[in-house]
Amino acid sequence: MSSFTVGGRAPLSGRLRVPGDKSMSHRALLLGALAHGTSQVRGLSAGLDVGRTRAAVDALGAAVRDVGPEIVEIEGGALHEPDAVLDAGTSMPSMRLLAGLVAGQPFLTVLTGDESTTRRPVDRVAEPLRLMGASVVARAGGTLPPLVVRGGSLSGIDYTPPVASAQVKGAVLLAGLAAEGDTVVRERVATRAHTEEMLAVCGADVRVESSGSERTVRVRRSVLRPFEMTIPGDPSQAAFWLVAATIVPGSAITVEDVYLGPARLGFVDVLRRMGAKIETDEGKRTITAAYAPLRGTEVTADELPGLVDEVPVLSVAAAVAEGSTRFCGAGELRHKETDRIDAMCTELARVGARVEGFGDGLVVHGGRLTPGRASSHGDHRVAMALAIAGLAAEGETTIDRWECVATSYPGFEADLATSTGDAP
Ligand code: S3P
Repeated sequence: MSSFTVGGRAPLSGRLRVPGDKSMSHRALLLGALAHGTSQVRGLSAGLDVGRTRAAVDALGAAVRDVGPEIVEIEGGALHEPDAVLDAGTSMPSMRLLAGLVAGQPFLTVLTGDESTTRRPVDRVAEPLRLMGASVVARAGGTLPPLVVRGGSLSGIDYTPPVASAQVKGAVLLAGLAAEGDTVVRERVATRAHTEEMLAVCGADVRVESSGSERTVRVRRSVLRPFEMTIPGDPSQAAFWLVAATIVPGSAITVEDVYLGPARLGFVDVLRRMGAKIETDEGKRTITAAYAPLRGTEVTADELPGLVDEVPVLSVAAAVAEGSTRFCGAGELRHKETDRIDAMCTELARVGARVEGFGDGLVVHGGRLTPGRASSHGDHRVAMALAIAGLAAEGETTIDRWECVATSYPGFEADLATSTGDAP
């Protein structure tokens, strides 16, 4: 296992590109596998998690080829039963979205993952897929992976997921492409819109209605056409640099070519409310942040789906703010790669912060961060958030179990070196 040490207080500056959006990368591979013909995708995330989806679609019969720097072609439309178990590794989007895709295929698929994934719930996808007519069984009374799906002969459903989850919405919509009749997903609070946005690009019969924070997506059986797509930068990865620039005095950073669509930029609103100097430019697709003193805020349950992946790094911002910050309705964080509420409480304490966890949230009491040694708990977002915390402390901070960063951001260290002027 590896560790990573950051020196504190070096200001960040310049312009940066982050990896291609992870959620879009998974979906591009899955839609390319279903589309009849050759699709071309630029800017696919090079993280290990997306690599799991790539290997899985390959095993299902959709060949994925590298045809240039960060360009892949996917030969889709002729899927077959995989010879072996599909391994999602640490990637829950791979497992849950694939479950939806294979539910519409007339064969048997077994999906598993590593020891963190096999502790994470799959009943949230198993239940709607079963209602659509697929046979889905899982361990622990149908709640935990491995997941065994025998697909085919589906009927549409009208479904309101009990938890706000873009993965559940995505799985049901992917199954809906092969179902008889309409498949409808109703969200009380809209989650990220990549599945419906990308289905439209592939010519699927998909319709979206929004009313306030609610969103209804309706899909009909569709044959997807092959597509060419460039995946923009991942706002959840941009968030690390934007928080870093906000909390390290003397910093100013611009992240280029970022996805600025719905349900991904909740963290920008929260940072602004805290006093951050952070600007988005839709025309140029950039987000810029500069150092600013912060004050605490309250993040509501309704805001949570729009910033679910940014809570670890927002809690770092909160740790240097004046006053306390409360994150409410964040129970989903207990079901991520690790229990992120527990992990941030324990590990931020090792770098001088005062954080209290409760059932479905946490309170961060602002103050000063100090150098220390902390662990990622094997979770990439916890690891990178702790590295950002280290940047705000005077002295060196070491993060153990650092290797998990490669699941989503293999170039993180290089980008840090570039933006602190430390690059060789
Ligand atoms: C994702 C949705 C979110 C997010 C995850 C990726 C997706 O999870 O936390 O990193 O690609 O659909 P939930 O569906 O559990 O909210």
